[in-house]
Amino acid sequence: MEKIIINGGNALHGEVEISGAKNAVVAIIPATLLAQDVCRIENIPSISDVNVMIKILQQLGAEIKMINKNTLEIDTRHVLSDTIGHEMSKQMRASYYFIGALLGRFNHARVAMPGGCSFGVRPIDQHIKGFEALGADISIDKTGVLNAHADKLLGNSINFDVVSVGATINLMLAAVKARGLTIIEPAAKEPHIVDLANFLNSMGADIRGAGTDTIKIRGVEKLHGCEYAIIPDQIEAGTYMVAAAATNGDVLIKNVIPKHLESISAKLLECGVLVEEFDDSVHIKGIRRPNHCNVKTMPHPGFPTDMQPQLAVLLSIANGNSMISESVWDNRFRYIEQLLRMGAKISVDGKSAFIEGTDSLHGAPVRADDLRAGAAMVIAGLVAEGTTEIEEIYHIKRGYDHIIEKFQSLGADIYLRDDPDNRGTVLEVG
Ligand code: EPU
Repeated sequence: MEKIIINGGNALHGEVEISGAKNAVVAIIPATLLAQDVCRIENIPSISDVNVMIKILQQLGAEIKMINKNTLEIDTRHVLSDTIGHEMSKQMRASYYFIGALLGRFNHARVAMPGGCSFGVRPIDQHIKGFEALGADISIDKTGVLNAHADKLLGNSINFDVVSVGATINLMLAAVKARGLTIIEPAAKEPHIVDLANFLNSMGADIRGAGTDTIKIRGVEKLHGCEYAIIPDQIEAGTYMVAAAATNGDVLIKNVIPKHLESISAKLLECGVLVEEFDDSVHIKGIRRPNHCNVKTMPHPGFPTDMQPQLAVLLSIANGNSMISESVWDNRFRYIEQLLRMGAKISVDGKSAFIEGTDSLHGAPVRADDLRAGAAMVIAGLVAEGTTEIEEIYHIKRGYDHIIEKFQSLGADIYLRDDPDNRGTVLEVG
């Protein structure tokens, strides 16, 4: 089994380039189905979630060419299938974006229920409510395959009961070619929602208001191919920001949109870390013992739940006591058991974690419970005295492009065991 090994204690120094956003690309790849044409997409991250997306599209009948290491040309003209089975669907959460995309293309879809990181129950009732509002009949059969069918999709007003990234994206995909006006409220406002809207608009869609609470979509008959570059990954950037701060390092994080990082920068500033923003980069300079602070995760533009485990590592070595309140997911503190093994002092009560800052962490064998929990283990390993071995690193490969090489380039003593080439995930087309 592959493991990440880290000999901790080195302050990170230098420059690191952020890759394209995972949560944007996993929506944009299915969205290419709506064009029935050729799309060229740049700034694609080399992560295993993208490999799964590519395989699903190929199984549906798309032709995909790798133009260079981060650019794909996707031709969806000859796609005929509307069906995705368990084998592929269980590999990632975002496979459910194919429901909206296939429904938008064919008026029907058969997609097995998705897998992905486990933070407790992850219902899709809001997605279903939205599809039904557009006129689709939805049923889930005994084997767990969702069947969606509409004679014709018709625009409608959709009022979600919760703010959901996934439901907002799925409805955008289904509504873009529905007849008439669709209004989505309250819409999620994450950067990847805006990126998807920009991508669809580049294909000829008429979507307004992405990034606000209300998205208005006027259905168009036909979409066409386009060239598009994915935005930089907010959470990957935030992960390097926190890693630089936690190791008392000095790092320039390049190819970012600083506006997307504001809530993360604000927390680091509160911790006494130096954060300097430039046009498309941020400079982070840590201090030996960060200040404690409290944080509550919120939908964008609040502090992202996907940065919660990484920040917990920084707060574990802060001066004083901190509290983290998780308001998005019911069960996102499983990783704390692993941090306790490394000497962190944290107790959990429901959706709150209480962190007593300690002077140092020590290396230990730990596990990546999920993607962001895995990123937190890497940061903890970089901070800790001694050696940390991280298991179940396939979670990390789902969403971090060449994480080992990037941290090595910043001076970290980190490597992959059982991989003689010492390479990260490489995009697989073929
Ligand atoms: N919810 C419902 N019903 C639904 C959908 C969601 O009750 O039909 C609830 C969820 O249970 C949760 C809340 O609404 O309590 C928010 O869930 P949301 O739908 O926004 O999350 P998601 O779309 O499943 C995306 C990201 C997650 C990220 C969340 C929150 C992707 C592929 N995933 O998940 O990212 O944590 O938004 O920002 O975009 C990650 O990248 O590590 C990751 C898990």
